[in-house]
Amino acid sequence: MTVVLEVDNIVKSFVKKRNVFGIASEHTHAVKDVSFTLEKGRTRAIVGESGAGKSTIGRMALRLEKPDTGAIRLFGDDILKMSAKSVRQLRSRATMIFQDPFNSLDPRMLVGQSVAEPLTLHTGLRGRDRENKVVELLERVGLRVDQMDKYPHEFSGGQLQRIAIARALATDPELIVCDEPVAALDVSIQAQVLNLLQDLQAEREISYLFISHDLALVKMFAHDVTVMRRGEIVESGPTAQIFEDPQEAYTKDLLSAIPVMNPSKRAARRALAAT
Ligand SMILES: Nc1ncnc2c1ncn2[C@@H]1O[C@H](COP(=O)(O)OP(=O)(O)OP(=O)(O)O)[C@@H](O)[C@H]1O
Ligand SMILES: [Mg+2]
Repeated sequence: MTVVLEVDNIVKSFVKKRNVFGIASEHTHAVKDVSFTLEKGRTRAIVGESGAGKSTIGRMALRLEKPDTGAIRLFGDDILKMSAKSVRQLRSRATMIFQDPFNSLDPRMLVGQSVAEPLTLHTGLRGRDRENKVVELLERVGLRVDQMDKYPHEFSGGQLQRIAIARALATDPELIVCDEPVAALDVSIQAQVLNLLQDLQAEREISYLFISHDLALVKMFAHDVTVMRRGEIVESGPTAQIFEDPQEAYTKDLLSAIPVMNPSKRAARRALAAT
């Protein structure tokens, strides 16, 4: 299997406090010695409580942030030693979608313009070819062509996340870091958006680094799971193994905390499981 992302012993700390002279006096150890791999066409979930370091790992994987020490290889290249130009080129192959789709889209831009933007930045498509591509992308995520002339505030959360996905897909990425992509959506809509992501993965062999605190969704969606706590990996392995035979007390606690589902949530999960 082709390894798309390889993270080796990464460490990251942030300055938490500075003294009166502006010198760092306290640090947050956000990520401590974390290693994992993500294979082509597969999904690895990163789970754990708030502040565990999940988003920091996601940002480092795309070189939006640099670790203090450790190595990260993306598509076989060491991204920490890359030139700024190579990093820019990387943006078309590896991208991110966020929890709040409203904040990730420019409120003053028509949706069609938002989806066209990465095409302008990273591809040679212009004029009618670019417009055709925008239409194709919007249709692929389940929106209508006439909706490209609307502004973000005219859409629901689920539709906005579809638009954010269309935008992410524009450059045909091989890796998408999904940081809590459905956490802000109604449960019934969560399953639809995850189904779309799963279909796209099957079609295009996209790899997902799927950051989530919702273990019930992770069980359905991810092939592999890495459980994190306070910057460290607690355990890591194939999803079935982690869920059926957790080795660590912390993982057992997380699993036992999966809420008893209400009927609408159960229906949404069934819809997802049936695909
Ligand atoms: N830019 C930053 N400056 C200072 N501290 C930061 C920064 N980014 C993250 N941290 C700290 O690093 C730790 C890990 O943060 P991170 O956002 O990665 O956690 P998370 O697992 O994504 O949490 P959540 O589930 O709440 O999103 C936290 O203690 C956070 O306060
Ligand atoms: Mg986070």
